[in-house]
Amino acid sequence: MQKNILKSGIELSELGLGCMSLGTDVQQAQKIIETALEAGITYFDTADIYDKGVNEEIVGKILHQYQQREDIVIGTKVGNQLQPNGDMVWNPSKRYIKDNIKHSLRRLGLEQLDLYMLHGGTIEDPLDETISAFEELKQEGLVKAYGLSSIRPNVIRYYLENSQIEVLMSQFNLIDNRPEMLLNEVREHGVKLLARGPVFKGLLTKNYEQALAQKFAKGIFDYDAASLKDTVSALHDIEPELTALSFSYLRSFDVLGSIIVGASSVQQLQENVAQYNKEIDSININKARSIVKDLNYTQHLK
Ligand SMILES: NC(=O)c1ccc[n+]([C@@H]2O[C@H](COP(=O)([O-])OP(=O)(O)OC[C@H]3O[C@@H](n4cnc5c(N)ncnc54)[C@H](OP(=O)(O)O)[C@@H]3O)[C@@H](O)[C@H]2O)c1
Repeated sequence: MQKNILKSGIELSELGLGCMSLGTDVQQAQKIIETALEAGITYFDTADIYDKGVNEEIVGKILHQYQQREDIVIGTKVGNQLQPNGDMVWNPSKRYIKDNIKHSLRRLGLEQLDLYMLHGGTIEDPLDETISAFEELKQEGLVKAYGLSSIRPNVIRYYLENSQIEVLMSQFNLIDNRPEMLLNEVREHGVKLLARGPVFKGLLTKNYEQALAQKFAKGIFDYDAASLKDTVSALHDIEPELTALSFSYLRSFDVLGSIIVGASSVQQLQENVAQYNKEIDSININKARSIVKDLNYTQHLK
């Protein structure tokens, strides 16, 4: 498995496991994580809020069995504060971030996090205070590197120019190709992109018809239901499978850090790994890219 290296020297497997859809059945999660490790995946993405902390506990418990391995990298996220009534409130304050990390470390069974990411946010946030919280955590040795998960150009640009983020996580796939408009700036700052949603919830898999009917019945972005169906069908007609096309499209960008793919079963993960391992001709990648629309972010630009 190809490894991509961050500024701090952290090595991310080019295919990473998005742990959000692992579920709360530990045995099932163990099977999926073991399948990932067998395939050479060493980067695992979680967040404090996934299953209200249970996801971090499960990921930590399972990966603890492999603690002698030094190549495993875990990334988690902060910013959504869970209220006693179960509601979530956005909290990017230094006080909260520096307190919350203790809980994530405890749930993951770690003394230091590889990667700590801000889980969203707006341009109205106290950005410098948030950045200073991550810088202090790094100086205190509690995190090796930090990053931002965002799809807001104004927030992304602020972090690129005013912080030492090493990764930017954004939804990125053949259909949602909006991040393309920011790639030059990301590259200039030596930041690596974590492409989440690479199979777009199943839309970019051989089960696309089910995803179209169940998850994209109203279309998405500039696509209405009919044009989305036509576009995905046209992609499907290109010889390599949709997933292989989406992964090789993402792999064609030198700023790629990792493709964070989700899977709710061992079978899905095995299929996704097999698609990742396929060599796809650049002619087919270009053909796929010419079929989809050129999307741009239209909000949160300033
Ligand atoms: N703001 C953020 O920071 C943020 C937001 C979202 C996600 N993430 C991270 O990114 C990861 C990936 O995100 P995602 O789950 O939205 O993206 P995804 O990988 O595009 O979608 C995963 C889902 O697609 C379906 N799927 C996957 N492989 C399949 C296959 N081979 N055949 C058919 N269906 C398949 C499954 O849906 P079913 O379970 O319905 O079958 C699975 O749960 C998450 O796990 C999480 O770690 C971060």
